[in-house]
Amino acid sequence: MPVAGDNTTFWFSARVALGQAIQGLGLRRGDRVALPAFACGSELEPFLLAGLQPQFFGVTDELDPDPESFDAAVEGAAAALVTHYFGRPADLSHVRAACRQRGVRLIEDAAHALYSEAELGAGDEAGPLGWSADAAVYSFPKLLPVPDGGALVMGAEFDAVPAAREPAPADVVSRRLRRQVGLGLRSSSQPWLRAAVRFALDRRGRRAPEGSEGEPEGGVEEESQDELYDLIRCRSEWSQCGMSRTSARLLGSADHASVARLRREHAAHLAEVLSDRPAIRPAIPRWPRGAVPLFLPITVDDPLSLRRHMAARAIGVKHIWPYRHPAVPWERFPREAWLKQNLLGLPVHQSLGEHGRARLGEALRGWSGT
Ligand SMILES: Cc1ncc(COP(=O)(O)O)c(C=O)c1O
Repeated sequence: MPVAGDNTTFWFSARVALGQAIQGLGLRRGDRVALPAFACGSELEPFLLAGLQPQFFGVTDELDPDPESFDAAVEGAAAALVTHYFGRPADLSHVRAACRQRGVRLIEDAAHALYSEAELGAGDEAGPLGWSADAAVYSFPKLLPVPDGGALVMGAEFDAVPAAREPAPADVVSRRLRRQVGLGLRSSSQPWLRAAVRFALDRRGRRAPEGSEGEPEGGVEEESQDELYDLIRCRSEWSQCGMSRTSARLLGSADHASVARLRREHAAHLAEVLSDRPAIRPAIPRWPRGAVPLFLPITVDDPLSLRRHMAARAIGVKHIWPYRHPAVPWERFPREAWLKQNLLGLPVHQSLGEHGRARLGEALRGWSGT
């Protein structure tokens, strides 16, 4: 089991794990917290739900916390949250020093970075991401075919928080499992199987499954901000729920080393494909050796055109992230707002296979760029 250790507890999701971290670190209603403006939104919710006061900071071109912006946000704060975006270990040397100096608790969001390791010299510690923070969280379904699950690792200075008292909501777990099976079939390399699944879903009037990595075959769905909020929100009724037994079992039997290796290989292959496609720019030009990517993040000027082109070829491309959380003062963060509009994630999933990877490369080469 990845990230298992004396100070690790397992939860229904990374969101729930963040809520537990807030309690474990003794943060109180009204405390200020430095939060990243470039965010999915779901990682902000536990802090808002706990009544903490957000102070936002921006990112650099490399997606590290911007030092100047971070220093302003961390002033007077009791804690700070930083994110290792898409599996790339962020350079936290400045952030760590700033937090140490001010006695601020540092929480690392490694929801995308379960398998990534920091390089010696990139931050000030080498080894698994998050293990030198005051608290770190991880999300299993992001990288693995499990229905739920997140982990909280508390720093050495702290006790582990008490283990979950409530089970994972069984109806949600079984619904997600069914959807995952459907998703797997829908992205099958067999066209007849894909068509059969599409037919079955159409008959039942289903939309793209929750947690889907992209669009339904042939189309691009634009959800409203209200619909998106429903996906990212933090449900207080799940705040004590642990990880399901199904996820624990699947995690115990997964071949983690192969998952990490295949994701790296797929990302390297795609980066090669893109090297002569100037309209598709890698958002992370250089991946450190220890990184295991969640997606291959790219920026394009016309994201809808690329998503439509790929969807017409039954390839889902993730829009990262369409929900603009109203807590973020967007007028102060134009770069982050632009990223939320123009950043897409190309799949590097371990299940892609030779065929899937070739199909992806061919589709990308076929996009005219507008
Ligand atoms: C950066 C980041 N942190 C945390 C989360 C929350 O993860 P979970 O869905 O396991 O609660 C997400 C989810 O999308 C995320 O993108």
